[in-house]
Amino acid sequence: MKKGNQRERKERNAWHVSPELRRAPPPKLEPPKRVKVPAMPPVTLVPEPGHWLWTCRAGFEAQLYEELAWGKKNPILLGPSLIASAPFTGENPLPRPPTFARMGFLVTDIVRSPADAAGALPDEPTKVQVWVPDTDVANARAGEATAWADTIAAIRAEEGLTDPETPWKASESGAWLGQICMIGPGVGVVGRVRAREALSLSAGGRARMKRSSESPSRAAMKLDEALDWYGVSPGKGDLCVDLGSAPGGWTRALAERGARVWSVDPANLAPDVLKLPKVKHFHESAFEFVPEEQVDWLFCDMAWRPLEVAQLLGKWGRKAHASQLVANIKLPMKDKLPTLFRVKHALEDGGWKELKMRQLYHDRDEVTVTGRRF
Ligand SMILES: C[S@@+](CC[C@H](N)C(=O)[O-])C[C@H]1O[C@@H](n2cnc3c(N)ncnc32)[C@H](O)[C@@H]1O
Repeated sequence: MKKGNQRERKERNAWHVSPELRRAPPPKLEPPKRVKVPAMPPVTLVPEPGHWLWTCRAGFEAQLYEELAWGKKNPILLGPSLIASAPFTGENPLPRPPTFARMGFLVTDIVRSPADAAGALPDEPTKVQVWVPDTDVANARAGEATAWADTIAAIRAEEGLTDPETPWKASESGAWLGQICMIGPGVGVVGRVRAREALSLSAGGRARMKRSSESPSRAAMKLDEALDWYGVSPGKGDLCVDLGSAPGGWTRALAERGARVWSVDPANLAPDVLKLPKVKHFHESAFEFVPEEQVDWLFCDMAWRPLEVAQLLGKWGRKAHASQLVANIKLPMKDKLPTLFRVKHALEDGGWKELKMRQLYHDRDEVTVTGRRF
C-alpha cells in the first residue's frame, strides 16, 4: 500500500474515535518535594537590599515559604507575615506570582527616618505606600506609618515631584508604587515595584471591601475583591451559575451587577435574595446540577473538599458549560500546598486556561482561583 494511503487510513480511523477517548490521559503529576520550614525567628529580621520582601496573611508564612522554595527563590523567614527571597531578574521570573503573597517588592534601602525614606524613593512619578505588616503587634504601630506617609508626601511636594494621586492612576500611567514597610518601630524597608506589575494596588495587599448592608453574608466582600483582582466582571444579561450559593451574598452581588443567576445550594437562600427577579434557586447538590444551557460565568464558593470541587470544576471546563471561572477553594488541611498543586492540575486538565490563584485579603483558610475556557 502506498504511504499516502496508509496515512489517510490512519487519519480516518483516528477521526472515528470519540474525542473523549482520543484525549491523552492526564500525566500523573506529583507535587514537588516538601520543604522544611524553619522556626519563626525570636525577633523580626531585616531583609537585605537586593532581596524581595513579601508579606502574607499572618499564620500562612509556611505556605509562602514553601511556595518560594519550590520556585527556587531561597526564601528567608523574617518574622510574622514577612518573608524575603532571592532577587528577581526579569519582569516576572517566578513560575507564577506566589499564591500566598499579598504584596511583594524589591528592597532598595533600610532607613530610620521618613526623610531618609523620601531620599531613597524614585524621583520619577511614584505613588508612595507606607504600611505595617498585618499582625496584632505591628497594627498597633499603624499611626507611625501614617505619620511617615504625611512627612514623605510633604518632602516630595517640596521637591516639586508630581506623583499620581492613587495607585490606580499609577497603574494606568506606568508609574512606580514606592513601598515602605515599617518592619519595626522607626525602621522602614524601602523599595519599589511597577504599579502594573504589583500583586495588589492596596497598601500591604489589604484590599478592604465594604460590606453592603443588604448582603446576607460577609462572603460578598470576597467576591468583590476577587472580581477587582480578576479585572473583568459579569455584566447586564450575562448568565452566571453560583455553586454553593447560600445564603446568597454572591448571588445577590451578581444580580445587582445585572446578571441572571442560577443559584445552586441544598441550603436555603435568604428570602430577599430568593425573591430577586433575576435569581433562580436550584435546591440541589452542585454535584447533581447540570446547566440547561451554556453559561457565561461559573462561580463557586462551595464548602466542600477541594479536590472534589476541583474535579467538578474541571468537568464543567471539559464539557465547555461555562466561559469564565471564579472559585473560592477551601483549604482547611495542613498540607495546603500539595493540595493546591493537585487542584491546579485538575482545573488545567479540564481545559481552564490562564489560571490565577491568590489568597486575597478577605480569604481566610481558602484561596481564590480564576480562569477562562476560551
Ligand atoms: C461559604 S458558604 C457560601 C456563601 C455564599 N457564597 C454567599 O455569598 O452567601 C458555602 C456553601 O456551600 C454549600 N455546599 C456545600 N456542599 C455543597 C454541594 N455539594 N452543593 C452545593 N452547595 C454545597 C453549603 O450549603 C454552604 O451554603
